[in-house]
Order: sequence, then C-alpha cells, then structure tokens
Amino acid sequence: MIASPVHKYLNSMKLTLFSFLLSTFSYPVFASTATAPIDPHTFANLETVRVTHMSLDLNADFDKKTLSGSVILSLNWLKAADELILDSDSLNIAKIEGHCQDKWQATEFTQSSRDEILGEAIHISLNNTCDKVKVYYATSPSAQGLQWLSPELTATKKQPFLFTQSEAIMGRSWLPMQDTPAIKITYDAVIHTPKELRAVMSADFDHKAPLNGSFEFDMPQPIAPYLIALTIGDLHYHAWNARTGVWAEPNILEAAAKEFEDTEAMIKATEKSFGPYPFGQYDLLILPPSFPFGGMENPKLTFVTPTVIVGDKSLVSLISHELAHSWSGNLVTNARWADLWLNEGITTYLENRILEVVYGKDKAKIEQVLAYQELEEEMKETDDKFQGLVLPLKGENPDDGFSDIPYTKGQLFMLTLEQDYGRRNLDNFLKSYFKKFSFKTITTPEFIDYLQIHLLTLRVNNPMTNHLIDLWLYQSGLPKGHYQPHSKKLDAVSKDIELWKKSPLSPEKINSKNWSSQEFVFFLNNLHSPISLAQLSKLDEHFHFTQTHNSEIALAWFTLVAKNDYRDAFPALKDYLKSIGRRRLIVPLYNLLASNPSQCAWGQTAYADAREGYHPLTQSTVDKIFKCEK
Ligand code: BES
Ligand code: ZN
Repeated sequence: MIASPVHKYLNSMKLTLFSFLLSTFSYPVFASTATAPIDPHTFANLETVRVTHMSLDLNADFDKKTLSGSVILSLNWLKAADELILDSDSLNIAKIEGHCQDKWQATEFTQSSRDEILGEAIHISLNNTCDKVKVYYATSPSAQGLQWLSPELTATKKQPFLFTQSEAIMGRSWLPMQDTPAIKITYDAVIHTPKELRAVMSADFDHKAPLNGSFEFDMPQPIAPYLIALTIGDLHYHAWNARTGVWAEPNILEAAAKEFEDTEAMIKATEKSFGPYPFGQYDLLILPPSFPFGGMENPKLTFVTPTVIVGDKSLVSLISHELAHSWSGNLVTNARWADLWLNEGITTYLENRILEVVYGKDKAKIEQVLAYQELEEEMKETDDKFQGLVLPLKGENPDDGFSDIPYTKGQLFMLTLEQDYGRRNLDNFLKSYFKKFSFKTITTPEFIDYLQIHLLTLRVNNPMTNHLIDLWLYQSGLPKGHYQPHSKKLDAVSKDIELWKKSPLSPEKINSKNWSSQEFVFFLNNLHSPISLAQLSKLDEHFHFTQTHNSEIALAWFTLVAKNDYRDAFPALKDYLKSIGRRRLIVPLYNLLASNPSQCAWGQTAYADAREGYHPLTQSTVDKIFKCEK
C-alpha cells in the first residue's frame, strides 16, 4: 500500500518535467519542477503522509455562529516522520489526540501565524506509528467557508440557514485537514442541529430521517476534500425518481421541481456518451439567493442558486454544468488549482453537449456564442500571464485567477479537438479518460500525455501539434484554427439590432416574439453604448427589462443602465444588488459603478446596504472594489 502513492507521485513529477522540456520554450530551462510541491496552496506534508478518511462529529450553534466538535483523520504514512501538518483558517483548536499503538493520547501541536491566503498551518507532533489523529475544535463566526443566514435571508423567512462552500481553499475554515485536491478521501459524519432543522451533506444519508437534532452521513466514494459540503435549514425533498430529486425550502420546492424536471434526461444523455454516473444518488439543493456561485458540484448533492428558477427552464444549463462535473471534476479531479481548466473547461464542453441532446442544437450554439463573446471581452482585461489554460497561481489566491479562461477557453480547446479529430473519436477518448483516471487526480502534463497517446496519434488534416498545445496551455489569446462558434438564431438577432439602430425609438419593430432569454441577452450585449436615455426608456417601456425575473437578462440590462447612467432604473438596480449575492451577477455591476466617478458614491451606498446579506467571499470580493474619490 505504501509504495503505490509514492510511485504515482514520482511518476507525475517525471511527466511534469518531461512535458515541460518537450512543449515549452516560454519557461527558462532551469525551471525544473522536480522539487516543487504538487499543490502550492496547502501546508500539508503530502510527500510524507496522506489522509484517507475523515470522521466528523459537529454541532451547529446558530446563536454563536460556530460549528464545534471533532474530526478524526485516518493516516497513511508514506515514510518515517515525526510530524503531521494540516491546513486550517481561523479555527479555535482545543486539543489534539493521536491514536498510536492502539491508544488515544494527547499530542503537542503549534499553529503558525496566519497567512493572508493560506491560513494557518497546524504542526502536530505525531510519528508513523499513529494511524489516526483527532482534532477538537470550533470554527470562527467569520469563517470564509460558512454563511450563517438569519431567517430574513431565506425563502420562507422563518428559520435560520447555514451552508458551506469549500472550493477552492475555504474548506480549511471549517475543517482542519489536508485541504488539497491532490488527495482523495472518504468521509462519514454526525451533525447535531436545532430540532426544527434538517442537515444534508454531499454523501449518502436517509432522506426521510426524522427531525430529532441529529443526522448521519456516509461518503463511500473517495472525493477531493473541497467537495465535502453541509447545509442546514428548513429543507424538504421532491423525488423525481429513485436516484434523483431536489431539496429546497418548502415554499419554493414545487417551482424548483418543475424547473429542473429534466435532470434525469440530462444524466441519461451524459451516461450514454461518457460512461455510467459514478456516485449513485444525484440530487439538487436550492440555496438562498446569497449563495456566491451559480452552482457547486458537491457530489450526490449539487448546490444551486435560486436565481436560475425562472419558470421557463431558460437557465437550466447550470444544472447540466454541475452534473457534468460528476465526471470531470468529481470522478477525475484537478490535482492543483493551476489545472482548474481540467475541471471547468472539460465540464463546460460536456455541459454544452448535454444541452444539445436535451434541448437541441440551436440552444447549444446560442450558448456557445454568448460564452465566446464574454471570453473575448474578458481577455481584453486579463493580464497575458493569466490567459493560458494553466494558471500561474503560486503565491496567488486561487480565487483571483478564476475567469472565463479555464471555462470557455478550455471548452474551445475541446471543441477544437472535436472539430479536428471528430466527435466520435473525442467521445471515445473522454470515455476512456474518465475510466482510466476514475477516483484519481490529474495534472495538465498527465492529461496531455494521455491525450497524445489516445487521441492525437490519429492522422488528421489539422493535427494538434506540440506547438499548438503550448499556445493553448501557456500563451495568451486563442491559437489560429481554433473552433469558431456560430449561431444562425443569433445572426437573426444581429439583423434586428441593425433594424433597431435605424429607428431606435421604435423597439416595437423588433421581431422578438420567439426569442429565448439568451437571445434577449445577446441583443442587449450587442447594442453598444452610448445609448441615449430616450432610447433606453423606449426599450424599457416596450420590453419591461427593469422588471424582469430573469437574472441573466437583468444583468445584461443593468449593465446598460450603469454604462449609460440611466437613473430611472437605479432604484430597481439597488433592489437587484440587494436581493442577489451570486458574484457573477453583481460584481461586474459594482465594477462599472466604481469606475464612474459620478456613480461611485451611489454604488458604495448601495453596497453598504446590501453587504450584510452577502456571503463572506462576496464581501471580500466587493470590499476591494470601491475606492471612490471624494
Ligand atoms: N465549481 C464551480 C464553482 C467554483 C469554481 C467555486 C472555482 C470555487 C472555485 C462551479 O461548477 C461553477 O463553475 N459554477 C458556475 C456556474 C456555471 C454554469 C458556469 C458559477 O457559479 O457561475
Ligand atoms: Zn464548474
């Protein structure tokens, strides 16, 4: 047992070095990675010891806003040593015990001073005769990875609510552990809650467990630690069938069950091309609107923002995205955050494939073009060094490197392979890749190596050369010959935009009767500011954008509102900013407001009013935005 992980580690190092030498001249020749750690965002001494299982026993105290209790970590020592190093962030550690030669005994430990990005290392005196360690601790009320919501911030407004968000490196703010995707663990848990509430986790559990203040969980499939997730609230379940259903607060359960009723069709579509769904159960969990993401692929239990419940299934691509992570992300996992594109890029490709099967080619193409346009915009503002698929994140907060690059440029890389090697061949490659690396982690060089052998050996007209691979992985922009998304439906919308430009005060001339919400978003995104207030007012009068319940249309509209200083819609913009905490939907708007001296103070006041309801992550993102000149 001991030999195999070491072997794998050494092997991956060799591959890293090999592929570096092979593929890139952008690195100085002396930049050997042979001694670099696998993951620069963990303090853990992974070369010495690896956690294989975690056993949690935690109590949720909504008055104190703390989780407290204990975690037992099972240890697999790879060599002789006298120290175990764990990650933590602002945890209060009461005591630590080691299980050594069949006895529990108190052990000494020290916590390093806090690193702004990585938190505190816990150095525990333990040697390789100890097979377990038990940490007694409590979280801080301001833990980055937890949001404690008062009842007003929930759907029913009756009960408090708690949810965790661990990706990328926030898990350490609620669990002392080796917080790195370089390892995979199983876990079990007992969670104690107030009697009225229910706890759910990214694990197997009894969906009908009585509300008695204690809930049990078991996760038998090994997963990366950032996928451990917990939510506590007034949660109810709607089953679509034996393996899939949705959890939500009672007053939104029915709407959620209707909106996402195609989930099973999505699972079947993915299984057909890419292999069986690997985690047994697949449920959704609808969070309050302050959830900082659109979705989070916690295994067996995808977390979902309520901002995609529109009533017309128009934003369900989010579900296909999170579902696709069950293969690319949860089954096969990026070993370091620099390789995020292996999770997000391949997933974005699969997301679009699922959409095509369940909702048709037109919808899939429209989403490709919208994403492509966003990528083009984003690349204009992104530092060259963050434009390669592999992100230079060492010394950076992984959260700051995340952009459309790993998602959409990653998707385009896959689409380019599909274009040049054929869909059947790419599908076969992906299916075998998911099988080969099942329940394992992977770095970009390992992926490229596998790709070279299992796809790129096919003879085709436009081969993916080493030079092109280098451009995709390490250089800015998009390589020549990349796949170019195109949508006939959006061509028609472009014609309508031309029409509107000729008589911008007569929006009724636009034939928008059969437009999907994505066509409206494309329309708004391509109107090009400046637009006069009279024109905006006519558009709003005709389309009622200010009142829209579609969060994507709202984002596109309020972007125009801010860019063109359309003050009539500012009260609605303020309500919007207060009602949603999903970063993608609000951060661009705060950025616009902060960059305009005449709007900055207004934006700052709107933020001051909304801030309390936001997740700690959203707060720290927006805190950095406003520096208004007086
Ligand atoms: N896993 C991500 C969310 C994430 C990424 C959290 C990196 C922390 C660090 C999730 O699958 C995701 O991509 N969510 C998107 C939605 C998607 C449809 C693009 C989001 O939240 O916007
Ligand atoms: Zn994702």
